[in-house]
Amino acid sequence: MIIILLGPPGAGKGTQAQRIQKKSGLIQLSTGDMLRAAVHAKTKVGMIAKEYMDAGKLVTDEIVVGIISERIMEEDCRKGFLLDGFPRTVKQATALDVMLSEKSLTLDAVIEMRVNDDALVDRVTGRYTCSECNEGYHDSNLKPKGDGICDVCGNTNFNRRADDNRETVVSRLEAYHSLTAPLLPYYEKAGVLKGVDGMASIDDVTFQINAILDNF
Ligand code: AP5
Ligand code: MG
Repeated sequence: MIIILLGPPGAGKGTQAQRIQKKSGLIQLSTGDMLRAAVHAKTKVGMIAKEYMDAGKLVTDEIVVGIISERIMEEDCRKGFLLDGFPRTVKQATALDVMLSEKSLTLDAVIEMRVNDDALVDRVTGRYTCSECNEGYHDSNLKPKGDGICDVCGNTNFNRRADDNRETVVSRLEAYHSLTAPLLPYYEKAGVLKGVDGMASIDDVTFQINAILDNF
């Protein structure tokens, strides 16, 4: 099964991708996470990507298409994968079409997570993750059960992303509306676009996504 989660920054792509991965074993491929790992490791790609990411701009198509085309060749992607944050431009979408057809694979569904812009700024600026196991939390929407203690691994250190500030979120939203939103008619035309109400609670969104995935 090959699924794309499509939505603006803070729509809940990563949150839902982790839940789907746990339930179905479908591998989450997040270009954002891969680029952050490259930035952390100070690789050549990471050094180039950092400037774009810090400014809330999209990294070049060439870089992200290169990363994804290598990643989907790996053994764990053989049974399918879940794309989180890729593609983000029509050029990336057409490159993905070519990659899939070369491997005789079919895209099953593109799930659009619809969230109002106003809610996104709060979601992104309130987000943090466990520094050990990467479990995601939010200052008001999703706190750990024990104050300051990760529910999953018991760690007490958390990270906030460098690009999760108000100014950068506004640029990321602009990039979404101008460069990524054109993917909606692209996938509508291909007959694979499904929508979920991303304004609903996290559990409710999971329920809506599972109802779509149960058809495959
Ligand atoms: P990326 O890491 O992909 O960031 P993004 O698209 O901006 O999306 P986010 O990760 O911020 O949000 P999310 O939808 O995953 O939300 P989450 O589940 O965490 O990309 C970062 C940068 O890398 C880009 O700006 C770009 O520079 C570069 N990049 C990456 N891919 C690229 C590509 N293909 N091409 C070019 N450049 C690329 O949820 C957010 C918060 O909200 C959490 O705290 C969560 O708990 C909470 N929340 C989630 N769901 C709900 C809900 N239903 N109700 C209430 N709260 C909720
Ligand atoms: Mg994410």
